[in-house]
Amino acid sequence: MILRPITPDDVEALQDLIESDPGYTERVTGYPPGPADAQSLLMMRPENLPEESKVVLGAFTDNRLVAVVDLLRGFPREQTAHIGLLEVHWNHQGVGHGRATYQLVEQYVETTWPEIETMRLAIVDTNAHVATGFWKRQGFEPTGEERPYRYDKLESTVRIYEKPLGQKSRS
Ligand SMILES: CC(C)(COP(=O)(O)OP(=O)(O)OC[C@H]1O[C@@H](n2cnc3c(N)ncnc32)[C@H](O)[C@@H]1OP(=O)(O)O)[C@@H](O)C(=O)NCCC(=O)NCCS
Repeated sequence: MILRPITPDDVEALQDLIESDPGYTERVTGYPPGPADAQSLLMMRPENLPEESKVVLGAFTDNRLVAVVDLLRGFPREQTAHIGLLEVHWNHQGVGHGRATYQLVEQYVETTWPEIETMRLAIVDTNAHVATGFWKRQGFEPTGEERPYRYDKLESTVRIYEKPLGQKSRS
């Protein structure tokens, strides 16, 4: 598996990946995937975060996109990298690609963003049954930080999880 930034040539494969698991999008937005979701994923970033601090990486096996990762450098603190999304293509879930992708993400962060000390992410309660077990397995723990989550009509709660770098995942 190789991990590299998504290019304009990968947008169709990225859209296909997003559409392969409509349940995920529905759980966090209340709606099925829309036709511009791949483009939106590439463009969306928090206000005030410089464009070069966001990277969308693809995990490829045999030149096929099997997973996507949205990664923010220095958000919300200088020494923290925030994972906005890690999604594995529906046809390839449950066989270790999520774990392999995350391991490559840590390597990417450690080698290209040397100031980062902590990996961070937010789990929406409506997706917790899918995400929490996976992230705990990768060594993430809840910080206790939580806040209301709202996406149009969907109301839930997000809980923050972190993992210090320089620490192995549980195996
Ligand atoms: C969550 C997700 C990325 C996991 O990817 P995956 O490729 O299916 O997971 P893997 O096969 O690599 O599993 C890695 C480990 O996590 C464990 N795991 C995965 N999902 C789990 C769950 N819901 N509960 C408990 N453990 C889980 C696996 O058993 C495996 O354990 P092991 O290392 O002992 O073998 C995938 O289900 C997905 O893309 N879901 C939709 C998007 C999403 O919810 N992303 C997370 C929010 S950002």
